[in-house]
Amino acid sequence: MMEDESEKIFGIIGNPVEHSLSPVMHNAAFVALGMNASYKKFKLDVSDLPHFFEQIRQQKIAGVNVTIPYKQAVLNFIDVLTPQAKKIGAVNTVYFRDGQIHGHNTDGLGYVASLKQDTKIQLKDKHVLVFGAGGAGLAICHALCEAGIKSLIICNRSSSKAKYLTDRLKTHYRNTVVFSCDFKTLVNVMLDQISLVVNTTSLGMNNQSWNSLSFLNRIKSDAVVSDIVYNPKNTELLQGAKNKGFNLHYGLGMLLQQGILAFESFTQQRAPFEVMQQALENQTAYFAES
Ligand code: ATR
Repeated sequence: MMEDESEKIFGIIGNPVEHSLSPVMHNAAFVALGMNASYKKFKLDVSDLPHFFEQIRQQKIAGVNVTIPYKQAVLNFIDVLTPQAKKIGAVNTVYFRDGQIHGHNTDGLGYVASLKQDTKIQLKDKHVLVFGAGGAGLAICHALCEAGIKSLIICNRSSSKAKYLTDRLKTHYRNTVVFSCDFKTLVNVMLDQISLVVNTTSLGMNNQSWNSLSFLNRIKSDAVVSDIVYNPKNTELLQGAKNKGFNLHYGLGMLLQQGILAFESFTQQRAPFEVMQQALENQTAYFAES
């Protein structure tokens, strides 16, 4: 079959990428807007990155999202970082414009947009507990600090990554008190003012289980408990929080909102929100679950 050279190619790069739902929502949006474009999965080794970015420079690929484990590795191939990507130090959206490769990060803004939409929480002056200091944790912590939270506890398995993130946040946000702990020392941390708990680790996915959810007994009774893991919908954390009557924030919302923002960066057009949401819902039968 002849290739359609006028078709714009977008996609997601990472490893693994097989289970990504991004193609479903972006392709639905292209169809809805009548665009001659498609969005594919590119499973890459780290050694593939230079050649891949050369293809972006030659405009054979118009733009990509970036997922595990390349959100920091791709920084080497980017000409211009948006202020968000620069501050966060990681990129999840890449596009070619005006002769240059641009890197942006929509994870944090997408997370906060979804949280606000689904829970109506006012983040200003709140005390927050975040689990995880990986790529997603990095972006989400920046966005929470930008939204004016009063304090942030970052609980992470490895202390070196938590320290890296804590130090970066302290240099950017003088009005938020930031400190870190690990899963063992969490028991010594005061949690009674915590209004929001966010899981950005992979706990709850692929049968990875939490050792203990006893921290839920120590946070404010009207707190929001949020998990960015979206498969399964009712993660172990959210199930535990539901049993205790907390407000819940599910992970699919962030996927949608970061995708909306990425689509708008790729195309400079308004994303068809409902089409993209419906495409995700159809794919996951997400809201049919209890
Ligand atoms: P992402 O881009 O999705 O954030 P990542 O950068 O690989 O992915 O980060 C994964 C996060 O999940 C990290 O905070 C990681 O903790 P470490 O910094 O100690 O590696 C956390 N994580 C993964 N598996 C975990 C487990 N079994 N228990 C606790 N934390 C885990």
